[in-house]
Amino acid sequence: MRNPNFKTLLFLILWFSFVLPLVISINGDSQILVRVKDSQLNDPNGMLHDWVISTPDQSPCNWTGITCETQNQTVVSIDLSVFGISGGFPFGFCRIWTLRALSLAGNFLNGSVSSQALSSCSHLQEINLSDNLFTGELPNFPSENLEVLQLSNNNFTGDIPPSFGQIHALKVLQLGGNLLNGKVPSFLGNLTELTHFELGYNPFKASPLPSEIGNLSKLEVLWLTKSNLVGAIPASIGNLVSLKNLDLSSNFLSGKIPESLSRLKNLEQIEFYENQLSGELPESLANLKALLRFDVSQNSLTGKLPEKIAALPLESLNLNDNYFTGEIPEVLASNQYLVQLKLFNNSFTGKLPYNLGKVSPLEDLDVSTNNLTGELPPFLCYKKKLQRIVVFKNQLSGNIPESYGECHTLNYIRMGDNALSGLVPEKFWGLPLFQFLELENNHFEGSISPVISALQKLTSLRISGNNFSGEIPEEICWLENVTQINLSQNRFSGELPLCIADLKLQKLDLQDNELTGKIPSSVSSWTELTELNLARNRFSGEIPPALGSLPALTYLDLSGNLLSGKIPEDLTKLRLNQFNLSDNKLNGKVPSGFDHEFFISGLLGNPDLCSPNLQPLPPCARTRPSTYYVVAILAICFLLLIGSVLWFYRTRSKFGSKTRRPYKVTAFQRVGFSEEEIFPFLKDENIIGTGGSGRVYKVKLKTGQTVAVKRLWGVKPETDTVFKSETETLGRIRHGNIVKLLMCCSGEEFRLLVYEYMENGSLGDALHGDKCAGLIDWPRRLTIAIGAAQGLAYLHHDCMPAIVHRDVKSNNILLDEEMMPRVADFGLAKTLQIKVGDCDGAMSRIVGTHGYIAPEYVYTLKVTEKSDVYSFGVVLLELITGKGPNDPSFGENKDLVKWVTEAALSSSSSADGGMDSGEKCFRNLAHIVDPRMNPSASDMKEIEKVLNVALKCTSAFPLSRPSMRKVVELLKDQRCGQLVAV
Ligand SMILES: *[C@@H]1O[C@H](CO)[C@@H](O)[C@H](O)[C@H]1NC(C)=O
Ligand SMILES: *[C@@H]1O[C@H](CO)[C@@H](O)[C@H](O)[C@H]1NC(C)=O
Ligand SMILES: *[C@@H]1O[C@H](CO)[C@@H](O)[C@H](O)[C@H]1NC(C)=O
Repeated sequence: MRNPNFKTLLFLILWFSFVLPLVISINGDSQILVRVKDSQLNDPNGMLHDWVISTPDQSPCNWTGITCETQNQTVVSIDLSVFGISGGFPFGFCRIWTLRALSLAGNFLNGSVSSQALSSCSHLQEINLSDNLFTGELPNFPSENLEVLQLSNNNFTGDIPPSFGQIHALKVLQLGGNLLNGKVPSFLGNLTELTHFELGYNPFKASPLPSEIGNLSKLEVLWLTKSNLVGAIPASIGNLVSLKNLDLSSNFLSGKIPESLSRLKNLEQIEFYENQLSGELPESLANLKALLRFDVSQNSLTGKLPEKIAALPLESLNLNDNYFTGEIPEVLASNQYLVQLKLFNNSFTGKLPYNLGKVSPLEDLDVSTNNLTGELPPFLCYKKKLQRIVVFKNQLSGNIPESYGECHTLNYIRMGDNALSGLVPEKFWGLPLFQFLELENNHFEGSISPVISALQKLTSLRISGNNFSGEIPEEICWLENVTQINLSQNRFSGELPLCIADLKLQKLDLQDNELTGKIPSSVSSWTELTELNLARNRFSGEIPPALGSLPALTYLDLSGNLLSGKIPEDLTKLRLNQFNLSDNKLNGKVPSGFDHEFFISGLLGNPDLCSPNLQPLPPCARTRPSTYYVVAILAICFLLLIGSVLWFYRTRSKFGSKTRRPYKVTAFQRVGFSEEEIFPFLKDENIIGTGGSGRVYKVKLKTGQTVAVKRLWGVKPETDTVFKSETETLGRIRHGNIVKLLMCCSGEEFRLLVYEYMENGSLGDALHGDKCAGLIDWPRRLTIAIGAAQGLAYLHHDCMPAIVHRDVKSNNILLDEEMMPRVADFGLAKTLQIKVGDCDGAMSRIVGTHGYIAPEYVYTLKVTEKSDVYSFGVVLLELITGKGPNDPSFGENKDLVKWVTEAALSSSSSADGGMDSGEKCFRNLAHIVDPRMNPSASDMKEIEKVLNVALKCTSAFPLSRPSMRKVVELLKDQRCGQLVAV
């Protein structure tokens, strides 16, 4: 019997196997696209909103980003560049078997791209994933059809896979701007179809440019800037006969520019700047008739600029920063294309070509820092394009040609340090695009023309060191954008226009002129002024107190004028690096804020100034006796009042008050914070330690940085000794095992020292404190010992003069995040000046810490490097035994050194008692070694060795102690010494 449903079944089978696929094949691509969009991509901007299937046979051909073949309406290209999409590599697109090109450039796609995912993409001819966030190693791309592979500006790492050498049809390979760190591989020479080869900006391992590069005879663009290329440019480069753009800039290429380069007749651009190329320019480069841009700047090239090369019709010629000599060929002036000429920082001599600019659309001329003579060429701006004239540091003479005054395109002028003279053309003063006008150190004369008011874009006016004279025109106040004015060392006279105070200046330098009148008194616009120099003029009247309110002023020089009256108290609010009011007619009492030796030299030469405190100045005259008592009583009342107010404020907040006394700040490093950020944190809850010299606070700054701030109280002589010692010592030291002093700040009542914060406290705490967590094992302890020894060795042997720490102890060895040691606390440190019979006052006080002090010190009071060595020996013993220097368990009158010495002797197999002779190996160390270390057998060998070093260091006789340099050596040498024969 037949199955009645057989026909139906057959029909269904037929339908499924023929008809359905046909239907699907019509709209299958739409479905793939929609599925990939939904499952593999995020589209926050809704760029793909029209990817919707509304009818069963929906064609995707007019969807955003999709291109179809016009004949048969199949999808051939997907271009989603810069759509703002994210997600992983959407390999699902490769299921569209008619697809030829996929561009996903400029999106936020991330993750790695696996070779496996790509295996379904072998029909693609073009893949562009540039400018995304892809990471990981480069995958193997299928080699069959790929012609364009663009992967620039991602975070691909590792090597270029050898499979890349097999993509034989590849025409475009762009891998620039990734994190590829292998070598530039020679197998890329197999890719003979390449036209574009771009690998620049990758941290490749230093490697030469493979000579196989010469196989790429179809190459048009070779871009290998910043690719760590070393060695010579291979001569095979001359085989790249199609090359138009050759960019090997910013590498370490050396040797000569290869002659073979002259074969590249299509070359339009050569970028070799920033390498180490040497030798002369090959004259044969003159064969490169297509060349437009030639840049070999920042190399070590020598010789002349060959006439024939100068005759090439280049757009730009950049030879700057080399060792070129000889004259600049006149033929350069006949180039009708020259836009940019940069020859600066060479040794060119002779004149600038007279006709330069006559036929060239010259925009940018920089020939500064050469030995050029003669006059400025008159036709430089003949084509009315010139923007920059940079000729400073030559020996040019003569006038500025009148024609330059018609050059309305000019915006940047630097003619300083030449021998130019005469009047500056009237119209030149008023060229409206000037941003920078520098004529300093020439012999110009005449006055500043009032047409200068047209210079609305000018930011910097520098004409010092000339013979300019006359009044400074009021029109200078129209220069709305000017921030720097330097008219110093001229013969300007008359009064300074007071409106100059309305300019937003940062620097104003008028020193050495003949200016008269008053200093402007309302200067509220000068909020950014850092430097005010009016020295050696004839300014008179009083110093305006308003200068004291300028928030940025750090440099104030009013010396050598006729200023009179008192020094305004307000000036003490400034935080100055340079302060000079000397040689004026100032009088009265110097404000107490200037009672510091730093200010003295800036006050001299004012015969009527007085001060009770500042030494060379005369004390202030007393008031007459009859009124003396009244004044005194009033003063006492006043002081009491002030005192109680101050007391009130200080108890409220020690640093919170607004009218802070002036203080001095020195930063030793580039720090990202100011002392003012620190003050609010100096509260009890932030104290992390209290020592002999002051308290230490932990301060977490807004930036997230944590610093340790040591605050020394009062202005007692001891405090100042400590402060001086720390700043002088640490300020000039840079060593990985010495704590960094970031900044110090001293006011009348406080001294602050700001250090980097050491995460793991001190070695003393780590060894003897409650927690010993990070410091259990011996290898770590040895590392700390070596580091600390290196720090001390640096102080003793590498500083001039040598520095003795004088308080070496485990509490003064700090541990950073990685438990690496840094020697700290230089409060007692002293430089060792060689002075016979040195015995100054500070020595009468015992320095150092009980248990660490070398025995000889007690009776000689002499401190040498060897005292530090002794103390360091004690630290070594602490590391070995885990015990403090004065542990009560040692018993009466015994310190660590004695205890270990006795224990070591009794456990030694040797009967030899002298601690200073030979190495000792101890049979039974167990009862002195810190049990918390749980040392291995090999650890024990090292410990034994280090114990020997420690005992040498703690020898009773300074001469028997090794130097710190030797200690470092001994500690690094980890083998146990040979057994001493009995
Ligand atoms: C795409 O084509 C369909 C029908 O062919 C049409 O309805 C739709 O509006 C078109 N979409 C766009 C964005 O042109
Ligand atoms: C579509 O047409 C192009 C050329 O017109 C052809 O190369 C391609 O194979 C065709 N595709 C299909 C699926 O027929
Ligand atoms: C890519 O590398 C740069 C430089 O190492 C890094 O700053 C950036 O965060 C990295 N981006 C991604 C997505 O990994």
